[in-house]
Amino acid sequence: MGDLPKDQAKRAPWVISADTSDELRARYDQWAQTYDSDLEDVDAYAAPQMVAEKLSEFAVPDGAVLDVACGTGLCGKAFHAAGFFNLTGIDYSENMLALAGKRGVYRDLQRADLNDPLAFDDNTFHAVTVVGLSLHFPPAAYHEFARVLSPGGLIFYCGDETSFDERGMRALCEAYVAAGKWVDVEETASFKPLPASEPGLDYRIFIHQVIDK
Ligand SMILES: C[S@@+](CC[C@H](N)C(=O)[O-])C[C@H]1O[C@@H](n2cnc3c(N)ncnc32)[C@H](O)[C@@H]1O
Repeated sequence: MGDLPKDQAKRAPWVISADTSDELRARYDQWAQTYDSDLEDVDAYAAPQMVAEKLSEFAVPDGAVLDVACGTGLCGKAFHAAGFFNLTGIDYSENMLALAGKRGVYRDLQRADLNDPLAFDDNTFHAVTVVGLSLHFPPAAYHEFARVLSPGGLIFYCGDETSFDERGMRALCEAYVAAGKWVDVEETASFKPLPASEPGLDYRIFIHQVIDK
């Protein structure tokens, strides 16, 4: 599997080039300790703040937010600073979750693999956020997001448009919209989340509302 590259700018590309989900988790476990400094010192990682601004625009502040693939909690930190205090985080990397816990911004943190059903009851959350997982995101997780969201709940997916299209997320969302169950809320303009280490990478935020289930 190899070791974390010494060059900070090479770490993100190395982690996401993992071939299997188990390898990816092991690489995130290795990356956890330097993840924040790599993204914030080298890159000024913008995605958490961008999603926090969209949460503020569309979601109710006292609503329960599920931060999917929360990593070290950079999103939780940004959401908390934007006035969202009812935060639950899930991730499958133990080392990432341990660091998220140290931030003290999540009410609940759980280890979970997005390839499996979520361990939450129906209608538990008002918003679901997914940030930075494009290449490895399992599209079927969207069905689980709809299940755990209350009617009127919002999904904020922040990732690259090519993966969104090629991995089938757009088609899945369009089918829900065509069936009258979801509404397209917004697809934002693109921005560069990692301008130093991944200058060719563009992210958008895809926002959908679950109206009917
Ligand atoms: C690039 S990090 C993003 C973390 C955080 N959302 C952020 O923006 O800083 C991706 C995270 O997704 C998690 N992850 C990847 N695949 C996963 C899966 N199948 N189930 C749960 N978590 C997963 C990794 O452990 C890692 O913490």
